Amino acid sequence: MAQKVILDVDTGGDDAVAILLAGHHPATELAAVTVTHGNAPLVVTLDNTLKCVEHGGLRDVPVYAGAERPFIADPAPLDPVQNRSLPLPAPTLRPQPGHAVDFLIDYYMGPDGPGTILVPTAPQTNIALALLKEPRLAQRIPRIVTMAGAYLEGNVTPSAEFNIFADPEAARIVFNSGIPITMVGLEVTAQALVTLDDATKLKALNTVQAKVAAEEIRAEVQWFMDTLGWTGGQIYDACAVAAVIDPGLLETKPVRVEIELTGQHTRGRTVADLSGYQKKQPNVDVGVKIDRARFMRVLFEGMGRGE
Ligand code: BDR
Ligand code: CA
Repeated sequence: MAQKVILDVDTGGDDAVAILLAGHHPATELAAVTVTHGNAPLVVTLDNTLKCVEHGGLRDVPVYAGAERPFIADPAPLDPVQNRSLPLPAPTLRPQPGHAVDFLIDYYMGPDGPGTILVPTAPQTNIALALLKEPRLAQRIPRIVTMAGAYLEGNVTPSAEFNIFADPEAARIVFNSGIPITMVGLEVTAQALVTLDDATKLKALNTVQAKVAAEEIRAEVQWFMDTLGWTGGQIYDACAVAAVIDPGLLETKPVRVEIELTGQHTRGRTVADLSGYQKKQPNVDVGVKIDRARFMRVLFEGMGRGE
């Protein structure tokens, strides 16, 4: 039976690929998508999400609008490859009535909650707000598999990865909630680089989702090539979905992870006691290695699946 998932996103090109993968891969059933601020203001991330489900063959997946801003953080710096409108026709779909936070609470307190993995690929504001409003969610969400964090080096600062940096107070609530967490951080996503050649091959699959995803992958890869001189690009959020579809592709280590809130240069860091010297109870299964070949196989399976 397919694994039910809910994605919490800030679409964003790589979030779009993650949505399409979760929505089309036979191993997952995408129950809903909740949207937050992050890569762009909420009005843009919501519009992009609606475009993605409408033009990516997922019209029946409900979309909920969530938080417009972080708890107390200043809005994070936005980069042009993410802070943009996806090149698709304007959506005719509308978000569901009600706030994403209330949807998450109702859903996880309902019968399908304990069987549905939550996949945040964005700042964790919606999840933290839901946990504050309904603390029993901590016993109802069976696992969070999140694209977030970095135990070596960040991207938005040398210390911090974007999704954590954009709302560290929210991330701290989520990481301390007691919910089992799998962290798919930058060290992992950097091991699953996708190339322009891969994007061309994906496009050739010729499904609706492959055409949308290939364009977003191409734009992200080009950014990595132009900006960092890399030979491929990180499709960050798709790695978290792939780790739900095929958990064996990700090697993890149980680690105590604290979210840094106060450091002048380190705010938003996921401080990971990788060696275990601190002898504290681990709270996160930190991804340390991803099998790129298996990741690509999962990506092609999802993108190649017809209606
Ligand atoms: C994360 O930040 C966002 O820009 C991407 O969508 C991804 O979720 C990578 O740091
Ligand atoms: Ca994202």
